[in-house]
Amino acid sequence: MPYEAASPSEDDQLFRLLRQLDQRPDASQRATADALGISLGTLNAHLRAATEAGHIRVAERSGPDRRQRFTYELTTKGAATKARLTDRFLARKLAEYDALHAELTGTDSGLLQLKKRTALMQSNLAPIPELYVSYDSAQKLKHEAGALPSWDLTQRQVCDLELLMNGGFHPLKGFLTEADYDSVVATMRLTTGDLWPMPVTLDVSEDFAAKVEPGQDIALRDAEGVILAILSVTDKWTPDKAREAEMVFGANDIAHPAVNYLHHQAGKVYLGGPVTGIQPPVHYDFKARRDTPNELRAYFRKLGWRKVVAFQTRNPLHRAHQELTFRAAKEAQANRLIHPVVGMTKPGDVDHFTRVRCYEAVLDQYPAATTHLSLLNLAMRMGGPREALWHAIIRRNHGLTHFIVGRDHAGPGKNSQGKDFYDPYAAQDLVREHQAEVGIEMVDFKQMVYVQEKAQYFPVDEVPEGSTVLDISGTELRRRLREGLEIPDWFSFPEVVQELRRTSPPRARQGFTVFFTGLSGSGKSTIANALMVKLMEMGGRPTTLLDGDVVRKHLSSELGFSKEHRDINIRRIGYVASEITKNGGIAICAPIAPYTATRRAVREMVEQYGAFVEVHVATSIEECERRDRKGLYKLAREGKIKEFTGISDPYETPTNAELVVDTENVDVDHCAHQVLLKLESMGLIKA
Ligand code: PPS
Repeated sequence: MPYEAASPSEDDQLFRLLRQLDQRPDASQRATADALGISLGTLNAHLRAATEAGHIRVAERSGPDRRQRFTYELTTKGAATKARLTDRFLARKLAEYDALHAELTGTDSGLLQLKKRTALMQSNLAPIPELYVSYDSAQKLKHEAGALPSWDLTQRQVCDLELLMNGGFHPLKGFLTEADYDSVVATMRLTTGDLWPMPVTLDVSEDFAAKVEPGQDIALRDAEGVILAILSVTDKWTPDKAREAEMVFGANDIAHPAVNYLHHQAGKVYLGGPVTGIQPPVHYDFKARRDTPNELRAYFRKLGWRKVVAFQTRNPLHRAHQELTFRAAKEAQANRLIHPVVGMTKPGDVDHFTRVRCYEAVLDQYPAATTHLSLLNLAMRMGGPREALWHAIIRRNHGLTHFIVGRDHAGPGKNSQGKDFYDPYAAQDLVREHQAEVGIEMVDFKQMVYVQEKAQYFPVDEVPEGSTVLDISGTELRRRLREGLEIPDWFSFPEVVQELRRTSPPRARQGFTVFFTGLSGSGKSTIANALMVKLMEMGGRPTTLLDGDVVRKHLSSELGFSKEHRDINIRRIGYVASEITKNGGIAICAPIAPYTATRRAVREMVEQYGAFVEVHVATSIEECERRDRKGLYKLAREGKIKEFTGISDPYETPTNAELVVDTENVDVDHCAHQVLLKLESMGLIKA
């Protein structure tokens, strides 16, 4: 049987052994056995078991004493176990003392003042367990963990880890083990029976997984390499992702953002096991607005807020949302917590920087004494009903008593058949079913709509008959922002609209990329040059030309023309173009870019920030060869240039270009003008 502490006495033995070895690593075995009050034989059995369990290891000893040439030292796992056992040991001893004191004196010891006060507290206000070790242990562990194999956490894993460590994911003690994962996927419960609807797993690459075995500890690092925690790996397995998608998200359909993530971003192997927290991830933004569950609980305690209702959101706050929060607080007779998610939301959402500025802008619309704004670093999965239940558990952990669930909570939008993934009120049904067990009360609402005659918001099922209902969908709002159109006062607050306009200026002021593609000698560079001059004449936005030849000289001088090198070249161009687009400039690119998949990848890179206008310069190979401006076609035909596009290398003709220009018998100026007209029709340039 592995030497994993099961009963308190085994815990004690292990704790004493680790403590002794840590304090006096050079002591002889006889001295260690004496200090522990056990025989040499028993000590040897303990040492063997602790070595097998990975808590200690044998180390060479360089002293003059020839009788003892080796010694035992704590491994990182051992140090983490010791820190955990210390906490548990002290708590138990304190309780024993307290009980003894009460028995002998008939009075309270006073030692457990804090615990007693906690017992008198409402359970939602009492501190919740965290996975962090003490500051001193953390410093030590951090140092030791430097030698462990380490995994660089993805953005989503950093979010998950933060909530694991700070108690937001209580009762989880780490990343799910295989048995817990199977149970959560199939039944929404951990193997202990606790409700837990969402798999929280550590996905890693196959290469990394091959280097790690259960029983080993690994360091978990953030993107900058800071060690945040140690994972004691107990499980390693290859999940059935299609099944996970079906069971957790209701369909194995990559139109679902989490399913897409599962198949295209998440690693192939999962690792599970308990986490020892060293330090929380560092945030540089909105520090004062971020609260851990225990910080929020302390805040509610301090203000004497016995009932608090949370409003979860991943959108800017408009008037309909505000009305919802007012009504919910009234219904529950509770204070309000605006609790927006700032970790990861649905791709394409308004970025959290903008959103938080929007929330701050409308905070004075609420009475300060009854409303608090706090940011939640959760990575959403857009999992509809299961996600709503997960949110309820997370809010309970943050000390809330009530939770608003509206229409289509955490909905991912349409599936690949154009239908909603979930019934819009399925989330409410699932939370209603489990709210008592979770220990949080749901405040459910139908969709809020504006009733013109009443100049007021109503839940859609309470609208007075015959009245005019107004609503602006998210898509319509984005369109209005894009086109610079009016956003009415009944819909949102002027401060919020102003913030949104700052982030999403109308298209004619946003950056964009024009991406010419075509054979060598098709006329791409010439048209691109003419277009650049025309755009510079108009002024307003900085313009950069990334011509094929120029790029190969400055950005990609070491690359050749193999498929691999061409792809690297085009991706570099795409990256630079996306940065220019992000910063409000115009990027004009003119490479051959012969492969459809790579052109699509560049489109995706750019479209995160602005429009991508693909222009196929469709000059035929015969015409290019007839022109042969650089004499390259002749050399290619003679076999003196290898892998030449159109001759000895493929060119995949674009099928979804925004514009196709024909250069045969048409002058360059006309071609460039066609592009200009296209840009105007797309709203990208204006007077
Ligand atoms: S790619 O495929 O997009 O990376 O190519 P690109 O960087 O646009 O190519 C730039 C110029 O390289 C010259 N050249 C070749 N083209 C195609 N195939 C081969 N093997 C080759 N060798 C050199 C060619 O003149 C390209 O210039 P343009 O401006 O397209 O005529």
